Amino acid sequence: VNRIAVLTSGGDSPGMNAAVRAVVRTGLFYGLEVFGIMRGYQGLIEDDIFKMESRSVANIIQRGGTILKTARCKEFYTPEGRKKAYEVLKRRGIDGLVIIGGDGSFKGAMALSKEYDIPCIGLAGTIDKDIAGTDFTIGFDTAVNTAIEAIDKIRDTADAHDRLFIVEVMGRDAGYIALHSGIATGAENILIPERKTNINAIIDSLVEKERRRKLVNIIVVAEGDEIGGANEVARLVKERMPNIDARVCILGHIQRGGSPTGIDRLIASRMGYHAVECLIEGRHNVFVGIQNNRMNYIPLDSVGKKKGTISEEWMKIVKILAS
Ligand code: F6P
Repeated sequence: VNRIAVLTSGGDSPGMNAAVRAVVRTGLFYGLEVFGIMRGYQGLIEDDIFKMESRSVANIIQRGGTILKTARCKEFYTPEGRKKAYEVLKRRGIDGLVIIGGDGSFKGAMALSKEYDIPCIGLAGTIDKDIAGTDFTIGFDTAVNTAIEAIDKIRDTADAHDRLFIVEVMGRDAGYIALHSGIATGAENILIPERKTNINAIIDSLVEKERRRKLVNIIVVAEGDEIGGANEVARLVKERMPNIDARVCILGHIQRGGSPTGIDRLIASRMGYHAVECLIEGRHNVFVGIQNNRMNYIPLDSVGKKKGTISEEWMKIVKILAS
C-alpha cells in the first residue's frame, strides 16, 4: 500500500479521535500518504477527502466525537453508491481503507471489498460493544462510566425521596451498557434485550421490598429490552402499584459524548496502530479486535452482532447483590 484513507461511520463513540490519530501517525511513520474522509461513506461518495499530516491529529486524543464527522449513509448500501465510492478511491490512488465504526459499517466495507479490489480494515468503534470477536469496542468504557456517574447522581435524589427510579441507558440490540452500569451502581434489576424480562416477577419483588420498607430502588433498562424502554416499564409498575413514588430518567445521547477514558484511548491507539500494520502486511478485509489481551483479526464477512452472550453468572450476581 502507498495511500491509505480513514473514515468514521455510524454512531460516534468516544475514542474515535484517538483511533484516527493512531491510524494517521502510524501510516506516516511507515511512509504512507494518509487521507481523511469526512462524514463516513457519504463523504467518500462525494469525494470529501483531504490529506492528513501529523499535525492534523494534534490535540485530539482526549476529545469525544470525531473530527472526521460521521454519518449513516443509505446510498452506500446500494451497488451504485459503492461504485461511486470505488471510483473516487481509484481516481485518488487510495489503495487501503480503514473504517472506524460498528457492525453496520463493517457490512458496508465487506460489500465494497467483495465487489472491488480495495483492502478494507475495520476498527470496532461503538458504545454498544455488540460485535462478536472482541472484548473491547472503542467508546464502550466511556459510555459505561458516563452512565455510572449519572446513575450515582440519580441515587442521591432517589435516596432523599425514597423513590423508585427507572433509568434507561442506550443499547438497542445489546445490554452491555445496562449490565455494566447497573452492576456498578448497585441496581436492583437490569433489563436487557438478551434476556426475557419477567415484569411480573420484578413487580412482585418491588411489592415485597415495599412491605419491608426498602423504598429506594433503581432499575436499569436497556433501550432495546423487550418491554419497550423505561417509560413502558414505569407504566406497568404503576398499573399494579398505583401509589408508588416512581420516576423515569432516560440518559440518551450524553452516553455518546465526553472525553474518552484511559481504557478507550489505549485500545483505540492499539487498534489504530494494528489496522495500518494489517494493511502493510497484506492482511486484508478483517476488523481488528482484542481478545484475552491479544490482537484478534476477524474476517469482515463473518462479522456478527454479539447477542445472547451475557453470562448466567452476571445475572446471578445482579440478583444476589440486589437482595
Ligand atoms: O449504536 C450506538 C447507539 O448509540 C445505540 O445504542 C442507539 O440505539 C443508537 O446508536 C442511537 O442512534 P442515533 O444516533 O441515530 O440516535
